[in-house]
Amino acid sequence: MSVFTGRFSGRNAIITGAASGLGLEVARRILAEGGQVALWDLNADALSVAAKELGAAHFCAVDVSDADQVAAATASSVEALGHLDILVCSAGITGATVAVQDFPLDSWYRTVAINLHGVFHCCRSVVPHMLTRGYGRIVNVASVAGKEGNPNASAYSASKAGVIGFTKSLGKELAMKGVIANSLTPATFESPILDQLPASQIDYMRSRIPMGRLGFVNESAAMVCFMASEECSFTTASTFDTSGGRTTY
Ligand SMILES: NC(=O)c1ccc[n+]([C@@H]2O[C@H](COP(=O)([O-])OP(=O)(O)OC[C@H]3O[C@@H](n4cnc5c(N)ncnc54)[C@H](O)[C@@H]3O)[C@@H](O)[C@H]2O)c1
Repeated sequence: MSVFTGRFSGRNAIITGAASGLGLEVARRILAEGGQVALWDLNADALSVAAKELGAAHFCAVDVSDADQVAAATASSVEALGHLDILVCSAGITGATVAVQDFPLDSWYRTVAINLHGVFHCCRSVVPHMLTRGYGRIVNVASVAGKEGNPNASAYSASKAGVIGFTKSLGKELAMKGVIANSLTPATFESPILDQLPASQIDYMRSRIPMGRLGFVNESAAMVCFMASEECSFTTASTFDTSGGRTTY
């Protein structure tokens, strides 16, 4: 639950992966703090349940790995909201949990297409709308896996490392233009994405966290909302951490 009120008054956000987990919690907070949101997700059923629960007026069933769908959803969201201030890219999948030599090609390509190409498609499509007004906050959700690499999660780790590097590049491009772009590197937190993983992989990831527990979605949502707010004004092209002490840089 947020302790802020009115922090996002007058601010409009697109949130991908908004039907579940971190994206859903960020949407809940931005709405509670006075903003408007466009909820984007691949899962149309879960999306309409989320939109109903949140009372969000605008939502788009969109596959972020498809640039044309992202462009159409951007146009529709701009029309519905009026302008855009915030983009939170939270859509993501884990991909297969297997060693590189056995990694299925389709899982590799799909994981990179959603986790990395999806972030590129959304930023590419939304940035011009932010530049028009000279204001923007972009939060791309990466992972501690992109810094350290998790064994048997090569596609996921590579895609998230890509998000970190991509966001550093984007932030520097936009540094003089009022648009701030940062990524978040959470360690494992409780959310439905964990259903995609074997218990042994979750145990491994928990064992790597010095605090000795998984995170809570609220903890990463609070950090995302700071990154998406006006208060985040002198940090760009950088990486924020919610990892219970796991990341060391
Ligand atoms: N939960 C964790 O432990 C953890 C740790 C580090 C990073 N992350 C990252 O945080 C982000 C959010 O994860 P979460 O835990 O909330 O997961 P989640 O599974 O609860 O939510 C992810 C959402 O993304 C949507 N999605 C998947 N593919 C999509 C596509 N092609 N187009 C649009 N939407 C799509 C799903 O339908 C789902 O609603 C992800 O990028 C994930 O990689 C999660």
